[in-house]
Amino acid sequence: MTVAAIVPAAGRGERLGLGRPKALAVVGGQTLVARAVDGLIEGGVDVVVVAAPPGDEDAVREALDHRRATVVTGADDRVGSVAAALDMLPATTEVVVVHDAARCLCPPAVVRAVVEAVRSGHRAVVPATAVADTLKRTGPGGQVTATVDRSGLAAVQTPQGFAAATLRAAHEQARVRRGAGEPVAATDDAGLAEDIGVTVVTVPGDPRAFKVTTPLDLAMAEALVTAGPA
Ligand code: C5P
Repeated sequence: MTVAAIVPAAGRGERLGLGRPKALAVVGGQTLVARAVDGLIEGGVDVVVVAAPPGDEDAVREALDHRRATVVTGADDRVGSVAAALDMLPATTEVVVVHDAARCLCPPAVVRAVVEAVRSGHRAVVPATAVADTLKRTGPGGQVTATVDRSGLAAVQTPQGFAAATLRAAHEQARVRRGAGEPVAATDDAGLAEDIGVTVVTVPGDPRAFKVTTPLDLAMAEALVTAGPA
């Protein structure tokens, strides 16, 4: 059984403000995308396809060096970038994990747990952590309109794992809806699976799988790498 990984790495990283794609930001001497791929391979993935920002494919290939990964051209948004990579997976793929390059310090144990849960029969699996902050709903002027009960909420990370046929069906529906001019609001692949009626289950996430978005996140990642394995 082939376990494949898709790494959406085609974001421009504007919130990071480095003037280059976020996936090519460096933490402890290694790019985010190279670290993400290393974590996936250590977690037991056989095949990796990375979606690179259009025009930066060669830079991503160079960053990946000798690693066992194929680079494809990404798209304007994350859904499109994942779909482009999905087209490149070998036909023998049975399990697919989709993992943001930006979550470059995710421990391989989380990858293994997600793959294992898919292998055991779940069609869609996400790593989840408890929400620490109090959550409020706000109105247009920023005023609080409600306090949200956080007891039934989870913060969801990647890698998200799927039976290959499920991920293909979820993206196919998203493509058809977009083609018909309908908005597709899902911000992750599990959301697309939910949209076609698939039950998504959770496994424990890990705080080290946080997403590098801002300069503070990059500083945190650097500090974690410097501190060594926790
Ligand atoms: O922008 P954000 O941090 O939410 O992006 C999450 C992941 O999706 C990142 O790894 C980013 O590179 C990827 N992405 C992509 N194609 C886009 C936008 C984002 O592959 N057009």
